[in-house]
Amino acid sequence: MPETNDPARAAPSHTPPRARTTNVLLIGGGGREHALALRLSQSPRVGTLYTTHPENPGLAALCKPVDVPVNIREIYRLRQFIDKHAVGLVVIGPEDPLAEGYADKLASPTTKVFGPTAQAALLEADKAWAKHVMRAGSIPTADSRVFTDAESACAYLSTREHPPVIKAAGLAKGKGVIVPQSLDEALNAIDRMMVKMEFGDAGKKVVIEERLEGVEASVLALVDGANILILPPCQDHKRLRDGDQGPNTGGMGVFCPTSTIAPDTMARIERDIIVPTVDALRRDGIEFRGVLYTGIMLTHSGPKVLEYNTRFGDPECQPLMARLRSDLLELLLAACDGRLHEIDVRWDERPACCVVLASEGYPEKPRTGDVIHGIDEAAELPDVFVFHSGTRRNAQGDIVTAGGRVLSVTALGETMQAARARAYEACERIVYSGKTFRTDIAAGI
Ligand code: AMP
Ligand code: GLY
Repeated sequence: MPETNDPARAAPSHTPPRARTTNVLLIGGGGREHALALRLSQSPRVGTLYTTHPENPGLAALCKPVDVPVNIREIYRLRQFIDKHAVGLVVIGPEDPLAEGYADKLASPTTKVFGPTAQAALLEADKAWAKHVMRAGSIPTADSRVFTDAESACAYLSTREHPPVIKAAGLAKGKGVIVPQSLDEALNAIDRMMVKMEFGDAGKKVVIEERLEGVEASVLALVDGANILILPPCQDHKRLRDGDQGPNTGGMGVFCPTSTIAPDTMARIERDIIVPTVDALRRDGIEFRGVLYTGIMLTHSGPKVLEYNTRFGDPECQPLMARLRSDLLELLLAACDGRLHEIDVRWDERPACCVVLASEGYPEKPRTGDVIHGIDEAAELPDVFVFHSGTRRNAQGDIVTAGGRVLSVTALGETMQAARARAYEACERIVYSGKTFRTDIAAGI
């Protein structure tokens, strides 16, 4: 792997492809995929790296664009592209293509897919089914009930002493969970989900669950159907504003590793949560291959599952990739081939801190089109990675904001505080109108 840590400078390897290189297609267009693309591009065994999202300037710098439409109805066109360009590995980043069945449709004897099948991805795409899996595996989680009509849901809420948490069962871009402070707020959440259908079909079914108290952590594991490789735990900051105030977002910043999970608690999470989840799926005939991400609440009575995701977290992936020292291609292929038990993954000892720069109005109504200055100046700092989450080039060639989360500014440091200071120094060099970020990512860690 080249020694540079700077994604802006880390161009794909220009050495001619050697025998036995693998062409890789990366599906997805955010900061998570930019981080994956960086590490894939640094693997000497990757031939050509293709992206479905060349409008992301970070991905455009590292990958060749796919020149066919990318959607599930015309998936045969992506299949043809894969055959024509001898793509040996497809890596699926986001939850939507997983839930739509891209993994099922793209896998073939000549093409491996990193990412679970649609059925396995239901663990994330249907929170009601996830609760069923947890019950089947005796996995610690909040008590819950599932409702498909608003009237019964409201009647149930009225019997609760404390307002429980209301979750749209389907995919809602990280915004379908409401933690109400009062019964009125809880009833309003039901109205928004089940009557006004603000989350579309995702809110047709809701999970109402006991509110848990404690510190949260994200534990991600690579799973190859049977073997599990647990990645260093991360701590996300889901609320928009400092001090965990404001609405839930997709994640405003994250640090890795988190010291809030003691080693014996990690062992417990593996034994009581991750292994039984994979086993419960296997008993249902489902082989999970990909990333199993468990959102954990560390409660007084031990770790409990808040949610599953079936992919790398965004932004958890960014600090993980910043710290990864092993060859990412080898790792992903081992997960596809059922060889994770042979892998000895190496990490940079140094911690990483990632601060998300968002746009004005995120998460409700992000404004786009603001010209961004200073990305190169930020990326020049040592051990800083500026991953593009939601950016584009405008007609003049300027990089502009193009989504709610704009850049994931990630830094390594000798200590967490050094990583944090460096990430914030880089954030200060980046300037655009409406720049929105939390100032307390990894504060006091
Ligand atoms: P999820 O998308 O299910 O992880 O939920 C988003 C956020 O809502 C979590 O990160 C928690 O902060 C919060 N949350 C979800 N479920 C619960 C729960 N049962 N008790 C307390 N907070 C929760
Ligand atoms: N950072 C939370 C997620 O990826 O869902």
